[in-house]
Amino acid sequence: MANRRTFSDVRNVILSAHRNTDTQDKVGFYDTWAENYEQDVALLDYRAPLLAAECVSSFYKGDRENITVLDVACGTGLVSAHLKKMGFHHFVGVDGSLGMLELAKKTGLYEQFKQCLLGQDSLPVEAAYEIVIIVGALSVGQVPLTVIREMWEATKPGGYVCMTTRGNADNLEYKVELEKMIKTLEEEDKWRRVTVVEVEEWERAVSQQDDGYIPGTIYLYQKTVLNALHEYI
Ligand SMILES: C[S@@+](CC[C@H](N)C(=O)[O-])C[C@H]1O[C@@H](n2cnc3c(N)ncnc32)[C@H](O)[C@@H]1O
Repeated sequence: MANRRTFSDVRNVILSAHRNTDTQDKVGFYDTWAENYEQDVALLDYRAPLLAAECVSSFYKGDRENITVLDVACGTGLVSAHLKKMGFHHFVGVDGSLGMLELAKKTGLYEQFKQCLLGQDSLPVEAAYEIVIIVGALSVGQVPLTVIREMWEATKPGGYVCMTTRGNADNLEYKVELEKMIKTLEEEDKWRRVTVVEVEEWERAVSQQDDGYIPGTIYLYQKTVLNALHEYI
């Protein structure tokens, strides 16, 4: 069991990671943070995994027992743990950090793991999934936006893609680019918007530029069936 940590410990750890602008360095940071990750994000009041899982759960009307969820940047498994409580049973996890994946393995939630550095390696999927979800990892210095199209490709026609991002000052440029990318896929008729939820109190702020809580956003999109059929013609 790790030592009891304080908010100030968490702030220092996260601010130290801001120095890592390279994707490989950021994933290396998660290797070293893995052991304290869940304890630390609880101190941050990090509710993204629960909020994203609730969002998917409230719109997904299909069979929950037999489908498989692709949990991209799964970390230690918080998102799949919430989805499991909501009746989903099968999960495949992808992450770049072996340290985070080791802890995810211990949860016993996942049937398969794939380790890959997103942005450098393509999303390693052989199947298409009814639900593809990425939480807490679409932000500057983490997973590059190329993953959005790859996640769309990994989704079955009619399936759902759930994404989240943060609205803190440092991430605003990334957020604008993410929304442009989402809109482009909408204009290409690749998916339709199901809901976009703006959350005021996403998690506690750690940087001096932000105060109190930072906001965050959940995007839920459904892959178009018609367009997907055209691809095979
Ligand atoms: C904040 S954690 C989120 C984990 C989990 N989804 C959650 O909400 O608790 C971000 C995760 O993204 C992973 N990650 C960041 N950049 C990555 C990249 N380029 N390729 C693969 N994984 C990456 C990290 O290893 C880490 O596990």
